[in-house]
Amino acid sequence: MNVYDGERMAELLAAEGLAAAADGEDADLVVLNTCHIREKAAEKVFSEVGRLRREDGSRPMVAVAGCVAQAEGAEIHRRTADVDIVVGPQAYHRLPELVAAAAAGHRAVDTDMPADSKFGALPGRARRRAPSAFLTVQEGCDKFCTYCVVPYTRGAEVSRPWAQILDEAKALVDAGAREITLLGQNVNAWEDGGRGLHHLIEALAALPALARIRYTTSHPNDMQDGLIAAHRDIDKLMPFLHLPVQSGSDRILRAMNRSHSVKSYLTLLDRVRAARPDIAISGDYIVGFPGETEADFAATLAVVRAVGHAQAFSFKYSPRPGTPAATMADQVSPAVMDDRLRRLQALIGEQQHAFNRASVGARTSVLLERKGRHPGQLIGKSPWLQSVVVDSGAIGDLIEVEIAAAGPNSLTGVVPGRAAA
Ligand code: 5AD
Ligand code: SF4
Repeated sequence: MNVYDGERMAELLAAEGLAAAADGEDADLVVLNTCHIREKAAEKVFSEVGRLRREDGSRPMVAVAGCVAQAEGAEIHRRTADVDIVVGPQAYHRLPELVAAAAAGHRAVDTDMPADSKFGALPGRARRRAPSAFLTVQEGCDKFCTYCVVPYTRGAEVSRPWAQILDEAKALVDAGAREITLLGQNVNAWEDGGRGLHHLIEALAALPALARIRYTTSHPNDMQDGLIAAHRDIDKLMPFLHLPVQSGSDRILRAMNRSHSVKSYLTLLDRVRAARPDIAISGDYIVGFPGETEADFAATLAVVRAVGHAQAFSFKYSPRPGTPAATMADQVSPAVMDDRLRRLQALIGEQQHAFNRASVGARTSVLLERKGRHPGQLIGKSPWLQSVVVDSGAIGDLIEVEIAAAGPNSLTGVVPGRAAA
């Protein structure tokens, strides 16, 4: 979603007459779009701010946007003199006014969460598009997992209206997008007037030039029957589901306030797989949540084995200021977290490699998205979100390839009838 927000901010500033600088060095304005989800990401902003000073001592106008801006607010101005603007994720449509205020010498802060969403105030989408586009349909979270800052930084769950989303989707497709990924912190909680995410997907699938639809991130408790059925019924909906479970221990899930159990999660996956047997499952895992024992962690490894992931993300627990878990007893030591993360990532890496190996010999579609490392090479995505390297075609093409080889992180595809390079 930060990529999406960054695009929208760039489009907004372009409408104000600002052009993108070739590199940060000669920029008049630098917007740092930040993440507050873990401490490491949040601290990065201050080192980045320091790096923006030039050799002659001057610096560009600096705006800190995103969730660090929302969480820290005016505290950022107190901590450094090198930031002019602090703007939260629900207020960035006001960036032009804030830039004007900063140009007049005022240090500006806007972390409002206005009742009128920013979307109505943003200009239309830019004309030239990459083949794959993001589209935010839902923002915020009411789940309050005890480790997570999102409900505080992104705010309460809000769904964008149906018509606004369809207009934006059409603009993206007219500008060349072949794939749209619908975004939300709890994207499957999207609703408008009794219509759910699957209705929206169905409407998007009716756009002839749109070839692929994806959505992320989902919460197990919002996985409705209609959405599961959409995986069976709608060809353009890609066979991929990012559905975090976070831990394999019910005791830890309760402490996390996840409001689902390991069993209910696995039962849900069974239903999804019954609807779409080849679906690739992704997830998020946290190791070292306060109180996590070796037995709890072993249960997490067991759930990963039971799921069989195509890919998954895993993180060391990071205590976040203001969240209930940050002050819980039995914080886990960094050394134990390191060890558990290493073991978990080894298992997930094996599963990912196995998933990729199982594709060898198969014919599959690939949407070519960018140039590869070597001349003539292109990289695209399979329906299961695997990166596929090919040596023919052009960016934006949706081609059929045969998978010739598989590595841990990517596949090699050959256009049938052509020999591998
Ligand atoms: N520490 C570590 N990981 C976290 N996540 C969210 N909050 C934290 C935290 N405090 C992870 C969760 C979530 C993903 C986006 O980030 O796994 O699904
Ligand atoms: Fe954070 Fe996701 Fe839990 Fe919401 S559901 S509080 S975004 S981890």
